[in-house]
Amino acid sequence: MKTNQITFKVAKLDDSAAKATGIAVASDGAVAKEVGMTRDQLVALGFEGKLGQTLALPNSQKQLTIVVGIGESAKANADSLRNAAAALARASAKVASLSTTLATAGRGDRVAIAQAVTEGLILATHRYDALKNDKKATSKLTSVTLVAPGATNAAITNGAKRGETIADAVCLARDLANMPPAHLTAKMIAERAQKIGAETGVKVEVFNKDQLLAMGCGGIIGVNRGSVNPPRMVKISYRPSASRGVAKSSAKKTATKIKAPHLILVGKGVMYDSGGISLKPSNSDHAMMKADMSGAAAVLATMSTLKALGCKNQVTAYMMCTDNLPSGSAMAMGDVLTMRNGKTVEIHNTDAEGRLVLADGLSLAVEQKPDAIVDIATLTGACARALGPQMSGVMGNNQRFVDQVVAAAAATDEQTWQLPLERKYRTMIDSYIADMKNVGGGDAGAITAALFLDEFTSGTPWAHIDIAGPMWSDADAGWLQRGATAYGTRLLVNLAENFKRR
Ligand code: BES
Ligand code: MN
Ligand code: ZN
Repeated sequence: MKTNQITFKVAKLDDSAAKATGIAVASDGAVAKEVGMTRDQLVALGFEGKLGQTLALPNSQKQLTIVVGIGESAKANADSLRNAAAALARASAKVASLSTTLATAGRGDRVAIAQAVTEGLILATHRYDALKNDKKATSKLTSVTLVAPGATNAAITNGAKRGETIADAVCLARDLANMPPAHLTAKMIAERAQKIGAETGVKVEVFNKDQLLAMGCGGIIGVNRGSVNPPRMVKISYRPSASRGVAKSSAKKTATKIKAPHLILVGKGVMYDSGGISLKPSNSDHAMMKADMSGAAAVLATMSTLKALGCKNQVTAYMMCTDNLPSGSAMAMGDVLTMRNGKTVEIHNTDAEGRLVLADGLSLAVEQKPDAIVDIATLTGACARALGPQMSGVMGNNQRFVDQVVAAAAATDEQTWQLPLERKYRTMIDSYIADMKNVGGGDAGAITAALFLDEFTSGTPWAHIDIAGPMWSDADAGWLQRGATAYGTRLLVNLAENFKRR
């Protein structure tokens, strides 16, 4: 599944006729001779090799040599090189072809570095421009050669392939989240998922409104009541190929296979969140509520990579898709919903809809008896207020699993911060008429939302990632582009690949 505009090549020698050559320069140590300048000359031009700094130098072949800063050489790792690559892509936006030595720079695992460089190049180039007639702001870059001399070639080739698969998925998730509400309804994202599943080798099953009613999914049905667009639940299944299974006992003739660890992803897919009867004010910021399905988009994007990456774990996903709109049939305050697991919820604010659709997704996930469940959701403004746009909040009922999520976030530079799942606050969502209400008080909004979700996990190891902060970027910056960020896609891919039972 290719969603990016760049064709990648890995070459031992830079014999490309690329219009621009990007050369890594640290803030210390020697300057590569290909630059054709001394450090003093570069410094005199204002280039110090700071991370993400670039300087384009025209050369005699009417090409550009672009020096790209990677910061202190001892600290140049996959994260910094992802950022340097993004800066290089931005500096090369007006040229069609680029060659670069960036994948050979820095320290650490060469596969991881080449992957990060490829991600940075693609993510800083990608732009949702389907609705723009004028595409002059779109990068012209369509061809990149990663120069990989000698022994690094195999690792860089492998890393570039991984990076492209993963960055393609991020671009997909960004596109889906950036699409206006009328361009992407629940039905349409389900159809898209079927197509993507067929292309990427994962099984996709779609459940419509009648089926969700029959299944007792009162949360997603309740949220959908105000809309003329029916809901969809999309279940996606990936199993590692049998040959990868681990033989339990070679001593026995009929070796029994140990089942691969099973992880379930649940994504909030609120196609547009108007707040429902608890209508959000007409603040133009709320256009971003078209991206209230960013969790579901990240989940779909993640699933699209697993076969290509050869993921060894079993992974299942539930995308819970509906919009949240007011109308004469919409759910009202005081209404009580009966959820998939039988628990009852009194509605105190129809704008706290994400937890209602997730509750059914979590219940369905628990029924599969997986080893762990992770949900991802643009859930609370409170989490965005607390942690800002640079990190998600993570909470869970099992510290060892939360630690795996935190490790995946650290490895992908999609930052997260753990908040406490403080059970003393459970009383904040007590209802006098039902098992719970769907909002707490004004305080600890991210935590009371997580405590609500916990009611549907039945003790299965579970982590909740609240991405209300990092789901959106106000500016092009590093490998982020303005608009929907698809935050969580790379984190979830890493988690799916590295997930360990217990
Ligand atoms: N989708 C919103 C949360 C959100 C806000 C995501 C800003 C991204 C950016 C969610 O459905 C919502 O409306 N939450 C309410 C909950 C409240 C009513 C308890 C909120 O955060 O205000
Ligand atoms: Mn809402
Ligand atoms: Zn919402």
